Amino acid sequence: MKLITFEGIEGVGKSTQINFVLEWLKSKDYSVKLLREPGSTDFGEKVRELLLSKESDISAHTELLLMFAARSEMITQHFTNAGEDFILCDRYYHASIAYQGYGRGLSLELIKNLIEGINCRTPDLTIIYDLDVKAGFKRKANDVIDRIESSGIDFFEEVRKGYQQLSIEKKEVEIIDASQSIEIISQQTKDLISQLF
Ligand code: TMP
Repeated sequence: MKLITFEGIEGVGKSTQINFVLEWLKSKDYSVKLLREPGSTDFGEKVRELLLSKESDISAHTELLLMFAARSEMITQHFTNAGEDFILCDRYYHASIAYQGYGRGLSLELIKNLIEGINCRTPDLTIIYDLDVKAGFKRKANDVIDRIESSGIDFFEEVRKGYQQLSIEKKEVEIIDASQSIEIISQQTKDLISQLF
């Protein structure tokens, strides 16, 4: 099984690219499972609701630990003995580093320990779609904003910096300029994934 994860701030077009990759891999007769974080298990989807609800008045540490609680369950239920050729995951632990580490300012060491502590498999490839924060928000102007999306421009500037830093530090992480046309972004996405065949 190859694990590919997709990351980026709000409005970068991540979902469009993931759906495109899903159909593309299936057309090549690969078996593919699509997951999302937080979520993808009954427990994880309940945690997702709590995490995104504006009624949840929670600390940054609670937010981090809930992300990892949902992640732990996803790993147990979906990664162990996975039979698929590919698992595509809409966000994974790099999001915790970017959002809770860089965005909320929590200890990167703590997050690293959680990643190792719950045995998070390192992805074969992580694609970060990078876009100017204001441009991303403009694209989502008509959407209902959830609790995390309500965190403000400064927060998302830090998250973006975190993702950019990860693309420098981690060998599995690649970055794509999401200000380009959908067609070019799709082609660059395909080129990266083709290297795993
Ligand atoms: P989304 O997948 O629909 O974008 O919503 C998930 C939200 O949760 C998004 O704002 C990013 C955030 N998130 C974190 O803050 N940390 C994490 O570890 C993950 C997986 C997601």
